Amino acid sequence: MSEFYHAPVLLEEVLTLIPHKRDGVYLDGTLGGGGHFRAIAGMLDENGTMIGLDRDSEAVAWTLDHPQPLLPRLIIEQSRFSEFDLVLKKHGIAAVDGILLDLGVSSRQIDAPERGFSYMQSGVLDMRMDRQAIPAHELIRSVTIDELSTILREFGEVDRPGRIAAFIKKAGMRNSAMTTADLREACAAAVDGPVPVALLAKIFQALRIAVNDELGELKRFLSKVLPILRTGGRLLVISYHSLEDRMVKEYMREHERICTCPPELPQCRCGRSPLFKRITKRAVRPMAAEITLNRRSRSARLRGTERTGASL
Ligand SMILES: C[S@@+](CC[C@H](N)C(=O)[O-])C[C@H]1O[C@@H](n2cnc3c(N)ncnc32)[C@H](O)[C@@H]1O
Repeated sequence: MSEFYHAPVLLEEVLTLIPHKRDGVYLDGTLGGGGHFRAIAGMLDENGTMIGLDRDSEAVAWTLDHPQPLLPRLIIEQSRFSEFDLVLKKHGIAAVDGILLDLGVSSRQIDAPERGFSYMQSGVLDMRMDRQAIPAHELIRSVTIDELSTILREFGEVDRPGRIAAFIKKAGMRNSAMTTADLREACAAAVDGPVPVALLAKIFQALRIAVNDELGELKRFLSKVLPILRTGGRLLVISYHSLEDRMVKEYMREHERICTCPPELPQCRCGRSPLFKRITKRAVRPMAAEITLNRRSRSARLRGTERTGASL
């Protein structure tokens, strides 16, 4: 297998925005091939700690198999990032200075035909990032056409998905281990001709998000991240589609607001200070040069926020 795993996206920008505390504690919740992980760990001294998590055992094994920065304490574990608190507790870590989430899938996952993530590769329609999820072909067999339509509409923003959902469901019921090629064929039959690549990408994205409960993961993570960030600690999130980006943007905005009173109240009653201070005015996008080198970076959006000293 090739030595290439994944090109870290917006690396310079992440290294600029992440706090520069050489003895700090940092969490990378989406280790992948460890590109960001190694670069952040490389900034730390022997008193620093770098934690890397990935729900995919292959990503964890890959990192453990490759040379790592020597100085900081390294913790590398298979875990969903929504369960970061359990890992921190296990290692006696109460607070961190920097957190990075680089959402979605790695190039290694996309390019492995047997993982079934890509409409460009032929393989069983699996799409699981970890073994706790059920494969996409089983999901298709277990849901109704209406439920499948909802998945396509909500997670893929597919317009009028009913007919496509019906064709996919029919193909899924015909074949107990539907493949990516079967899915492409079902879509072609539904639209009566060649399927535009943009539509195929949306359909694959929708199924992948559903299989891995990706929005649920992000929501659970955001619901418990605040208390572990030290004052001045920063949260950076790179998203690759608008559903995740919207969730991150709304979460950050909500906590960057000074007042938390309902808008219909004529006067502030809460007297609260913001819990976060914005550090990226708008989403940071890759420069043209990065997109030329790595086309997969083109949809990336990085947002960051910093924990203020206000108490929870
Ligand atoms: C875009 S890649 C990260 C690439 C990495 N930053 C690098 O430089 O190589 C996303 C990674 O996040 C992992 N992942 C996605 N959702 C996750 C979750 N909820 N918990 C833990 N890992 C997750 C995927 O398995 C994948 O390896």
